[in-house]
Amino acid sequence: MEFLTDKTDGETLYKLILSLVVPRPVAWVSSLSREGIPNLAPFSFFNAVNDEPPVLMISVSNRDDNTLKDTVRNIMDTREFVVNMTSEELLTKMIKTGQDVPPSEDEFKLAELTPSPSKLVKPPRIAEAPVSFECKLYKYVPVYDMHVIFGEVLLIHVKDELLDEKLNVNYEAYKPIGRLGGDYYVKAYGNCKIKR
Ligand SMILES: Cc1cc2nc3c(=O)[nH]c(=O)nc-3n(C[C@H](O)[C@H](O)[C@H](O)COP(=O)(O)O)c2cc1C
Repeated sequence: MEFLTDKTDGETLYKLILSLVVPRPVAWVSSLSREGIPNLAPFSFFNAVNDEPPVLMISVSNRDDNTLKDTVRNIMDTREFVVNMTSEELLTKMIKTGQDVPPSEDEFKLAELTPSPSKLVKPPRIAEAPVSFECKLYKYVPVYDMHVIFGEVLLIHVKDELLDEKLNVNYEAYKPIGRLGGDYYVKAYGNCKIKR
């Protein structure tokens, strides 16, 4: 099948991009409103775009009613956020924080997660997360209807049991997951180390 994109409706394109560009990592973003209310939300239009200094990007749509999602509003207001990585054990809680809830609701409480103070930014990180990146806003770029947010990483938290002294990651301990289309996820680890 072929799809000429300028002749294809938005719903179809969304479905194709979501289900074909896979697996995607998920950024589980914690941010704070101007009033100091913590917010959590997952974003799979996410990746690393630079390593020195590390820069991560997330791409966020508006809500169906065309209003800004809380994450975008909070990052624009405070210029700080934390990208937490998720894992197999945290999958259900991560999905719970993808629900649309009013900004007054603390999603750490909603998903029964523990906020842990960050060192260099105000938004807390998720204590249960295997990895967290404390970020300051580097750049905001609108791309058609999306808000693309680049964050410069100031501090990287990695749970001790994930790294050995040579910085090899123990993926059996990390248990990273990847997002596919629909309700599908993959375990992004296993016996696929290549032989050199
Ligand atoms: C696994 C997963 C991945 C998601 N990825 C994105 C994404 O890349 N961009 C986006 O705009 N919304 C994405 N969403 C939906 C947002 O998480 C959802 O709209 C959330 O309510 C936004 O919360 P906020 O208003 O607190 O920022 C995703 C949801 C899930 C469960």
